[in-house]
Amino acid sequence: MKLTRLRGFQDYLGADARALGMVEDCARAMAYRHALNEIRIPALERIELYERSSGETSDVVQKQLYRVPRASDSPGESDQALRPEGTPGVIRAYLEAGLDRGDPEQRFFYCGPMFRYERPQKGRLRQFNQFGVEIFGRADAACDAELIIMIDEFRRALGLEVRFEVNSLGDGQCRPAFRAALLEWGRAHHAELCADCHQRLEHNPLRLLDCKTDAALAQSAPSGGDYLCAPCRAHFATVERLLGVAGVPYVVNPRLVRGLDYYTRTTFEVISSAVGAQSASVAGGRYDGLVEALGGAAVAGTGFAIGVERTALALAADRHAAGGAPDAAIIAIGEAAIASAIELARELRAGGLRIELLSPDRAVKASFRRADRIGARHALILGDDELRAGVVLMRDLRASAQATLPRGEVAAALAAARG
Ligand code: HAM
Repeated sequence: MKLTRLRGFQDYLGADARALGMVEDCARAMAYRHALNEIRIPALERIELYERSSGETSDVVQKQLYRVPRASDSPGESDQALRPEGTPGVIRAYLEAGLDRGDPEQRFFYCGPMFRYERPQKGRLRQFNQFGVEIFGRADAACDAELIIMIDEFRRALGLEVRFEVNSLGDGQCRPAFRAALLEWGRAHHAELCADCHQRLEHNPLRLLDCKTDAALAQSAPSGGDYLCAPCRAHFATVERLLGVAGVPYVVNPRLVRGLDYYTRTTFEVISSAVGAQSASVAGGRYDGLVEALGGAAVAGTGFAIGVERTALALAADRHAAGGAPDAAIIAIGEAAIASAIELARELRAGGLRIELLSPDRAVKASFRRADRIGARHALILGDDELRAGVVLMRDLRASAQATLPRGEVAAALAAARG
């Protein structure tokens, strides 16, 4: 038999492996700036951990767990599974270290492979990597906003175009009424529901909103926003206000429910249309109550996970993303301009911009072709005239527009164009 990799498992070589590394490096830089601390946890845990957190009725536990036989030298041990996500294991480790009672406010990040027995397709693998963030002991809406702002910084650093979708699922006070309304609606539309929704109706009516088979029908279902209690409404209003102040573009999607059962209040997904059907490249939300449900103190929790492969796919598909593509290519024309162009490149790089200085031996037309091929957002042209006047000719290669700028203003203009 030929020894090949398993279905849904991938090899990454060369540039593809580098793309994953770049996403992870960028996420680590984000985690560092936000004062998060690394946590490393095992890939194998007791099955009950996932049943009690991800949700006994969730697809992840019902259909997607990679179950592993217990070791033969440990007959007393319970059944085990490869982790389908990082959140439950991080909470288990947090509890096992006694932090919920000793020092509850903790900010963690982790990175590593997760396993889900799913039907593989583009962007959906059976082994994939998540870069996750979990913050404990912060019940305030500012923390939810900070997480979304963090992701916005991350995607800006990569130059990725995405859409932020946010929603509030309410809490233990108001969700039962919403659940009951969905149940009633589902029963009234029973004949029109798909087979999966018949299951959802019994076990988790919120997921009726998630139906991919008949999205139009789901549109007529009750909307969670109408059922939020006053504290949940105020919490969500603060999240929205803070996102507005931070300039994070988002849409409220009242149909956004998550595939895992533990969420309360704020939930969000980051959609990269470049990825295709599996378009959520990052997802997360608040899970107050989960630490307690797993045996700990009543500590609030919130977090998200970046899908590393999906983000790399989005980078590869988004021709304009900065996944290796420079903010600008500098074209120096004439001997005198070369030294000045090197100096300009150094200044711009010191400000965190990605700059490629093109070979002065190329003809100007060929330089523009090169700038286009490497996906540079701008060309900066420095010739004798520009040198004398202390300016730079900046050409926006996407908009095909150009402007002459004082040299000192170029860095700010390039940074602003990152959007
Ligand atoms: P999730 O939405 O199940 O959330 O997964 C988060 C991200 O992991 C997805 O948006 C996607 O990018 C990636 N992902 C999930 N399944 C696959 C797959 N089969 N193939 C490739 N990528 C995949 C969670 O896992 C939560 N633990 C997130 C969280 C952390 N919530 C709070 N804290």
